[in-house]
Amino acid sequence: MNAATTLMGEVPAEERQRVDAEESYQRFLERLSHQSVVKHYDAYADIPWDDPAFAIDPEDPRLELSPDDPLGATTWYRAQPAPVRARIGLHMMANFANIGWRFESILKRGLLEFTARLPDDAPEFRYCYHEVIEEAQHSLFFREVVRRTGMPCRPPRILHLAERQVIGFARRFPELFFFFVLSGEDPIDYTQRQMLGSGRPLHPLIERISRIHVTEEARHMAFARQFLRRSMPQVRGVRLTLLRVRTAVVMKVASLFMSRPSRRIIRTYGIPAAALREAYGRGSRGEEHVKRALFKPRELCWELGVLDARWAWLWRRLDIYAPQGSPV
Ligand SMILES: [Fe+2]
Ligand SMILES: [Fe+2]
Repeated sequence: MNAATTLMGEVPAEERQRVDAEESYQRFLERLSHQSVVKHYDAYADIPWDDPAFAIDPEDPRLELSPDDPLGATTWYRAQPAPVRARIGLHMMANFANIGWRFESILKRGLLEFTARLPDDAPEFRYCYHEVIEEAQHSLFFREVVRRTGMPCRPPRILHLAERQVIGFARRFPELFFFFVLSGEDPIDYTQRQMLGSGRPLHPLIERISRIHVTEEARHMAFARQFLRRSMPQVRGVRLTLLRVRTAVVMKVASLFMSRPSRRIIRTYGIPAAALREAYGRGSRGEEHVKRALFKPRELCWELGVLDARWAWLWRRLDIYAPQGSPV
């Protein structure tokens, strides 16, 4: 029992509520930290990389894009020979893993910046370090996967250009930083959960990595959401306007990277413009996929006033709008 609790009878109701909220936030962070201690993974000890069943054959039919994937559903893709379909699936997966570890690299540096400005008794400090350690393990396995596929991948230039700025936000404008975090983590999580729940036979290496990632990311996203719920009420005026605009743009950009083939992939396999339009154009399956992948962070934006009736135009303009409570 802390000093504030012993004084409960003497403090006004508003102050008591604040102390209660503070204590439950601290308990929530303690629970997350405890989970990180009892349920965590090592990129090399917990993945049998050299098990022959985990070897990657680029023509393995389990690597093909699913018929629910926007590109996988196109007439062009279905008309390709099976080995080409598998290679495209593998190359896209390697590209997402490559973007994934580079995104996590920015995220880790941002978290370290964020913790550097915290007071000594801040409850977030310990949990953020658990998260940095987990993200480092994820980067190890994502990078190892990219290496083992042998597929050439380069990250989008914009990620490189934005990294300094995003890391700076972690120190100066953490609310914006944590929306950036969710804009990357939520769509990846959505895609991995869809894949794991699809009932299709999956390559064991991809399945293992996805299961580990989904488990640990659930904690990271829960922390980001709680942090934002607690600190967004203090963001007002120009900062709130800036956050509204930047969050919508970042959500759009991040979700596109995590759902479309890179230019290199388009060139390598000669994917025609008509197939890309069919997959990702207006009213396409790809547009719906992006909206669904952004459902959770968009709902948080509705809840916290980052998206409201006055700002809906911006989200519509970016083709990522959906009414509150609706995935599309
Ligand atoms: Fe991760
Ligand atoms: Fe994460």
